[in-house]
Amino acid sequence: MERAKRLETIPPYLFGEISRMKAKAIAEGKKLIDLGIGDPDLPTPEPIINALCEAARDPITHRYDETEAGWPEYLQAVKRYYKRRFDVDIDIASEALLLIGSKDGLAHIVWAMVDPGDVVLCPDPGYTVVKVNSMMAGAEIYGMPLLEENGFLPDFDAIPEDTARRAKLMYLNYPNNPTGAVCDLDFYQKAVDFARKYDIAVVSDIAYAEVTYDGYKAPSMLQCEGAKDVVIELHSLSKTYNMTGWRIGFAAGAPNIIAALNKMKSNMDSRQFPAIDIAAAYALDNVTNEETLAVYKERRDILVKGLREAGWNVPCPKGSLYVWAKVPGGYTSAEFVKKLISDAGVLVIPGNGYGPHGEGYVRMSLTVAGDVHGSLIKEFISRIKASGIF
Ligand SMILES: Cc1ncc(COP(=O)(O)O)c(C=O)c1O
Repeated sequence: MERAKRLETIPPYLFGEISRMKAKAIAEGKKLIDLGIGDPDLPTPEPIINALCEAARDPITHRYDETEAGWPEYLQAVKRYYKRRFDVDIDIASEALLLIGSKDGLAHIVWAMVDPGDVVLCPDPGYTVVKVNSMMAGAEIYGMPLLEENGFLPDFDAIPEDTARRAKLMYLNYPNNPTGAVCDLDFYQKAVDFARKYDIAVVSDIAYAEVTYDGYKAPSMLQCEGAKDVVIELHSLSKTYNMTGWRIGFAAGAPNIIAALNKMKSNMDSRQFPAIDIAAAYALDNVTNEETLAVYKERRDILVKGLREAGWNVPCPKGSLYVWAKVPGGYTSAEFVKKLISDAGVLVIPGNGYGPHGEGYVRMSLTVAGDVHGSLIKEFISRIKASGIF
């Protein structure tokens, strides 16, 4: 049976060989230390689970959510979060939308805003979902290189005039996956000015807005002048509250873009179990992620210090869950990852999996299941030191 041609636009799974090597090592009885997956390993805080259980007992949550843009209690909490955190006023009647995780918004916005042949500006390296959906929607991708010398921020001036004119959508993501880079409001203002000049919708993915360290607080692009004309910002509760499996996020921003996404989504899904929205509202209003952040910070500090001692001069990220490190000379990303598996019994992700400009890097995640006060991170470092790779 023939399948849709658009499936052929999805690039081959770059992590395939790594997955096979991982499976082989496990079959041979080796216990790999896995810094590959970026999925919070700590449980969802108990009060949020209690709020879910209570809401689940209310039959009002047992039906379709037929509200305009999402469970009102949740959208009210979103409004309070924006005011409290960014001093931005959100009109929940037109400027907010409940999402089934931020991936929902990232994946579907392109179907609502882009026609075949239009240009989509995607960060390179970047979270693969945005590029793959843009390709499936028939867009022409323009990869904006995120270069170390620019702090892993795209250079809007380097985008050719003709490409900018044909662009309909631009994705940005700070704190960034995979580079761990953060940005300031000046950068966001440049993005908004660029987008307004060329009439481009900006999708600002701030899934890691609350995963930051050393006093850095991630800004919102909606704090910028003119942002509400061109920006849709996507948030996630996944990383903030260890709720990846719950599938809950939200969008806020330009009414026109919010309405377009809502129209598309209302024909694709029927939202999630409303008890999740009620528990998420409770989380936004009442729960901080300080304890979780302290765990990540401890792991980050042990990892960065240990790797530097081992002779690998890795940077120390101010945000996200990732350390993005240059591979030593003489290796491609994939070759180095294989070497780490075979010689050290540790797993990291090859940077080229996130785009051509990720070549020469690897990503290490701070979400290490079973790690207690850096126990597995320390073992990760010991193994690298013992391997003699550096
Ligand atoms: C940059 C980025 N955006 C969005 C997501 C999706 O998060 P969720 O759909 O769980 O909100 C992820 C998940 O890893 C991510 O890394």
